[in-house]
Amino acid sequence: MSQVYDDYSIGKHSLKNRLVVAPMTRTSAEADGSASELMGDYYERFAEGGFGLIITEGTYTDKEASQGYENQPGISDAPQTDAWKKIVSRVHEHDCKMILQLMHAGAQFQYNRFTDTPVSPSGVKPKGEPLGLYGEVEGGWPEPEEMNEHHFDIVMNGFIGAVNRAKEAGFDGVELHAANGYLLNEFLSDYFNRREDKWGGSLNKRLLFIEDVIKAAKSAAGDDFIVGIRISQITVTDPDYQWPEGEEGFEHIVSKLVAAGIDYIHTTDTAYDRKHLKDGDHSLAETVQHVSDVPLIINGGIDEDNLDDLAEQFPEALFAIGKKALANPDFAKRFKSGDEIADLDFAMLQPKATLENEWQWRKLQQQADS
Ligand SMILES: Cc1cc2nc3c(=O)[nH]c(=O)nc-3n(C[C@H](O)[C@H](O)[C@H](O)COP(=O)(O)O)c2cc1C
Repeated sequence: MSQVYDDYSIGKHSLKNRLVVAPMTRTSAEADGSASELMGDYYERFAEGGFGLIITEGTYTDKEASQGYENQPGISDAPQTDAWKKIVSRVHEHDCKMILQLMHAGAQFQYNRFTDTPVSPSGVKPKGEPLGLYGEVEGGWPEPEEMNEHHFDIVMNGFIGAVNRAKEAGFDGVELHAANGYLLNEFLSDYFNRREDKWGGSLNKRLLFIEDVIKAAKSAAGDDFIVGIRISQITVTDPDYQWPEGEEGFEHIVSKLVAAGIDYIHTTDTAYDRKHLKDGDHSLAETVQHVSDVPLIINGGIDEDNLDDLAEQFPEALFAIGKKALANPDFAKRFKSGDEIADLDFAMLQPKATLENEWQWRKLQQQADS
């Protein structure tokens, strides 16, 4: 049998296989940010479909500027925690673990119930246009406010509170979203982070807030609760961004994340094997594997054609699957039995990436097939 069905462990948590559902925003929570019944059905399908681990969509952490999308779920209060609790227990019934992705939108801010003003390291707007997939934004990206010490406290307390509530909801861990251009990713970027104080400038200074958040999250988490991180150079509107410090800089980032106590590193890029670090000839995933033995999750274009080779090339890694999991919620079972695996039809996510649109699309497919 394929090596992807080997057991795996992150700390004290054992997974039944190495197949992970990648985090995917579906903007289908209730208006108050509570995860909906439909979201329960959606997540349970992946668990029934054989995945060993699900990482949820990016979930906002506080009632200030962390929310980025309309109908995005939150973990900022008791009702939101209770709503997630029901979903986690449905997923656990299928021997599948579940990690909550904690996301602060930063400058990538399209809708927020609590404020009209995003906060970001230096008040710089993202490149490109907001994502229509997650709702229309009139007038393009709003102007962010540069974070002051008060904002730093709010953001930090938001992450700590979210870790505590994620534990209460029964999750196996949290993933700090430091990829794709959201707030923690912005700190690392010399495009978004132009600060000249202790939080900006050199790579060590751009890393400092992320290290502080990891340490605080680990301290709230205790020994039995996973705190991982997702990291990328790319942002949702800028696939070509590169850190100025290149491959050597990324090696340094990995060593600092590990020293701060991170339980796993999840790399993402336009393709898992893209060699896009400046002055380097390795992918993000290869670099993590070379410089550390921290558990690694790899993402970006992983499918039935490359999984077996990847399992050999990265004997100690997990594989996060996005679009193929959307198209085949039972991907993990299908791959095992050699059944046909469909490509994603993007019509499923049109005009918005909501679960309601997906359900409509599935109904039409069934009608067409019968
Ligand atoms: C509809 C959709 C929503 C996404 N939302 C998130 C998200 O909330 N957090 C995140 O880190 N990545 C998000 N992503 C990126 C995916 O996790 C993944 O990195 C990307 O789809 C590439 O992996 P794949 O080739 O397996 O699809 C999203 C992707 C899609 C298609």
